Amino acid sequence: MSEFVRNQWYVAAYGREIGRELFSRTVCGESILFWRTEAGAVAAMSDRCVHRRFPLSQAPSHLAGDTVVCGYHGFTYDQGGACVAVPGQTRIPRTARLTSYPVTELDGFVWVFIGDRANAGSTRVPRAPWLDMPGWTAVSGMEPLAARYSLLVDNLLDLSHETYLHGGYIGTPEVAETPIVTRVDEEAGIVHVSRRMADAACPPFYAKSTGITGRITRWQDIEFTPPCLYLLHSRIAPVGVLPGADGADPDAFHVEVVYALTPETEHSTHDFWAVARDFALDDQGVSGFLEENNRTVVLQDVAALNVLERVIAAEPDGYQELSINIDTGGLAARRLIAKLR
Ligand code: FES
Ligand SMILES: [Fe+2]
Repeated sequence: MSEFVRNQWYVAAYGREIGRELFSRTVCGESILFWRTEAGAVAAMSDRCVHRRFPLSQAPSHLAGDTVVCGYHGFTYDQGGACVAVPGQTRIPRTARLTSYPVTELDGFVWVFIGDRANAGSTRVPRAPWLDMPGWTAVSGMEPLAARYSLLVDNLLDLSHETYLHGGYIGTPEVAETPIVTRVDEEAGIVHVSRRMADAACPPFYAKSTGITGRITRWQDIEFTPPCLYLLHSRIAPVGVLPGADGADPDAFHVEVVYALTPETEHSTHDFWAVARDFALDDQGVSGFLEENNRTVVLQDVAALNVLERVIAAEPDGYQELSINIDTGGLAARRLIAKLR
């Protein structure tokens, strides 16, 4: 049986990736064609021609105004996926229609609904407003992961691995040493994992971007909305600097680390990542540093998870994992994901 959680919204692309070129991305095993109409709306439909399955993203398939022309024999489809022309006859078969997908653009992401489209309107699209909000500057990217989605969930819900896998970038000893607090909001379906370090070394990722030279108070507050959106609210301040009683926090640096985890196939995942900050907003040097550094960190995870995928795929059934306190967030996430199936 498929492991995919259906009847959910998934991030398929950044808005900047979709234009007047035919674009294909596989989400939850479904190969989907994306393009922008002349009015600027995103259209999403099956990337397989109903005639002989030729991928509509494949040249010489092309856009003609607001229609897609198949590059094999010329079946032509409108933005809703209906066939409007076939070669050699005027009658268009009644079943000549591509599956089309509900799409919405929010916070710079193109979200696509996978499942029964009647459920799209009543299903939440989680938000990451910092990616497209005054007062914040964001950098972002996407790395292909040759590993199953569940391995990325485990990875992101347990940040103690920063100390070992990302030492010299975002990891310091205090991350692994500091216990976490895990809380599940059952009603909202959200996992919260907090790790608050009162006196920690400042890793290069934050020292170079904020300019802080000494030790820091470092908060990591994770908010995971299964199946797709992960937020890490990160707060960095000199040791002892805390928010005021009214919540005002002018002397801290805030970073919102956003991941969208989108299954591609049963054994591969689209790893969308973004880093938004509320300081040095116009500093291109800081943007370049954070983009480069975060991509490096993501690629460290990708390398490790790609190895794990090969290990798991090759092992006999029945391996017994051992879980400890640091895994409570990941285990809670697994439970909420299972509930969505
Ligand atoms: S495969 Fe598309 S028109 Fe024949
Ligand atoms: Fe990591």
